[in-house]
Amino acid sequence: MKVLIVGSGGREHAIAMSVAKSPAVDKIYCAPGNAGIGMIAECVPIGVMEFEKITAFAKEKEIDLTIVGMDDPLVGGLVDELEKEGMRVFGPRKNAAILEGSKAFSKDLMKKYQIPTAGYETFDSADEALTYLEGADFPVVLKADGLALGKGVLICQNLEEAREGVRTIMLEHQFGSAGNRLVIEEFLTGREVSVLSFVDGRTIKTMTSAQDHKRAGDGDTGLNTGGMGTFSPSPFYTEEVEDFCKKYIYQSTVDAMAAEGREFKGIIFFGLMLTEKGPRVLEYNARFGDPEAQVVLPRMKNDIIEVMEACIDGRLDEIDLQFEDNAAVCVVLASEGYPVKYEKGLVIKGLEKFEGQDSYFCFHAGTKRTEQGIVTNGGRVLGITAKGKDLKEARANAYKAAEWVSFDNKYMRHDIGKAIDEA
Ligand code: AMP
Ligand code: GLY
Repeated sequence: MKVLIVGSGGREHAIAMSVAKSPAVDKIYCAPGNAGIGMIAECVPIGVMEFEKITAFAKEKEIDLTIVGMDDPLVGGLVDELEKEGMRVFGPRKNAAILEGSKAFSKDLMKKYQIPTAGYETFDSADEALTYLEGADFPVVLKADGLALGKGVLICQNLEEAREGVRTIMLEHQFGSAGNRLVIEEFLTGREVSVLSFVDGRTIKTMTSAQDHKRAGDGDTGLNTGGMGTFSPSPFYTEEVEDFCKKYIYQSTVDAMAAEGREFKGIIFFGLMLTEKGPRVLEYNARFGDPEAQVVLPRMKNDIIEVMEACIDGRLDEIDLQFEDNAAVCVVLASEGYPVKYEKGLVIKGLEKFEGQDSYFCFHAGTKRTEQGIVTNGGRVLGITAKGKDLKEARANAYKAAEWVSFDNKYMRHDIGKAIDEA
């Protein structure tokens, strides 16, 4: 069969690598892809929001399955466009992708169906938000309603910071129309865990857990990024935590979406905070996490195509989802200056060391093939993943492999997975 993957990051590279392992697959295309994806798929220069071109391409090449990896095209309705043309697609339709596309929607859903989350209020005007803040307890969390590349969340320690935040999001429109509405949320403390799941509209099967490191600097300092590294599984995701989530969060979310007439098929990513009072949902995403996918997918034993087809056909209950009994750590190699300002076009050396390895993976995030060789083409450049028998070994392996590659201004965090030492 022929598969088309839509996206261009480390997540799509990890998806492509899983897809390539399926005996059912003869050919993989990726729009637009990157240099690493280009080693296992044919990359086509079509942007993820060019819905007409994607649909025309899928029809022309008689694609059997399209996998939409990224949030923007999902929230924008790419799945609906492809389905209108009779194509098979893995991912939620627009009316279900709103679970990620609108924080106000997801908060209201959780409230209505009693899914545990932080207390909140929603505001359509800056004046009302500012008035509310006068009487609020601090810290508070401000969230732009729409998609903002993971940057539309501000944690404000006091009234002054919160006022500034409201101005940034609602009046200066730093996150564009994503900031037309604002969610003001209770600040929670605890460990964060990411749990990704396959969903077929009714049945949900969760994958192994992972933890992301969102801040740019060691010790969780600096700005929020798309993610600087991950490890899987999370030792903090205990059986007790999992039981709670099964009882109050996972199935309840799928059922709530179905009850709202927004049947969800695809990936639901649960961003959880393990608070003293129990797990709370911080956010939902409607896709694999990036870089969570880079530690979860290499550990998955199933044929990803079989699982995705079961989701599309509503037969996920027949699938026994299995993960290796080991661990994986992913260290992101970024360009110094990310997430603010960084150079592109720097030549990357050492990539060949990953060829033929089966416990070490070099997932490309922002890379491009040029006449000079493969060069950097984004803030997050590579995701270096290694497996090990446990997290300690995986972590040592990942940092060893992170030294195999070099490029000017290479930057990484040195404490990915370090929290596991305290577990
Ligand atoms: P989100 O995009 O909603 O996941 O938010 C991004 C990050 O902000 C999360 O990964 C948390 O680290 C932090 N965050 C979000 N909501 C809260 C909250 N209610 N309390 C504390 N931290 C939060
Ligand atoms: N790593 C967090 C995300 O993909 O949203």
